[in-house]
Amino acid sequence: MSEYILSTKSLTKKFKNNVVLNQIDLEIPKGKIYGLLGINGAGKSTIMKIITGIIPQYEGSIFFNGQPWQRTILKKIGALIEYPSAYSNLSAYDNMKIVALEEGINITQIDQSLTQLKINGTGNKKVKDFSLGMKQRLGIAMAMLKNPDLLILDEPFNGLDPYGIKELKIYLQSLSHIGKTIMISSHILPELQDFAEYIGIINNGLLVYQQQITNTENLNQIFFEKTQGR
Ligand SMILES: Nc1ncnc2c1ncn2[C@@H]1O[C@H](COP(=O)(O)OP(=O)(O)O)[C@@H](O)[C@H]1O
Ligand SMILES: [Mg+2]
Repeated sequence: MSEYILSTKSLTKKFKNNVVLNQIDLEIPKGKIYGLLGINGAGKSTIMKIITGIIPQYEGSIFFNGQPWQRTILKKIGALIEYPSAYSNLSAYDNMKIVALEEGINITQIDQSLTQLKINGTGNKKVKDFSLGMKQRLGIAMAMLKNPDLLILDEPFNGLDPYGIKELKIYLQSLSHIGKTIMISSHILPELQDFAEYIGIINNGLLVYQQQITNTENLNQIFFEKTQGR
């Protein structure tokens, strides 16, 4: 057992000659909210894609619960990376049903998940007619359906209005209180201030900061200090 649900050792990713991730040692403590910060193009989505097996080629190692990464850990990881991957011609419920069938989950859990993310009541409305915020919420509901230990969310506040952001934060905090770990990326500093308990900052391929953060610390200041002269 490890105090980290997920860690990487010298994780390196090159696209052709472009070193996007340079020897990253990520340490994500169990049951915490870990915010991954970096400007656009810093490599946040790439890290998440590697962890979730979407990008299979990389150098270095990944550990889940202290054990080397293997495909079976994906059962314990729920993820929403870049764009919600729901079928646009189907309703929220039918999209959830597809996930439930794929994952062997009882479909009676769907309504509860939809309610938790406030997308119940969309009825037969097709996902293509959803707002981006509703699509984001559906994506999270789909990721949560298998009751994962680690939830990986790539810029999940995109497209949400201030109430949506507030509600999603409360929901994610409630998950963290029952022991789930949340890894969340953002390039918008105030989104993670007073929310993330740990912060990692990637800049020019390097993890330039990784620490527990208290809400008296100014994330803005830390970010500009650590990414100086980018
Ligand atoms: N499939 C790919 N082929 C080549 N370059 C890529 C690919 N995916 C991402 N990149 C590059 O890797 C860098 C990091 O991208 P990304 O992880 O999407 O950043 P972020 O999510 O932090 O905005 C960018 O320079 C991007 O152009
Ligand atoms: Mg990204």
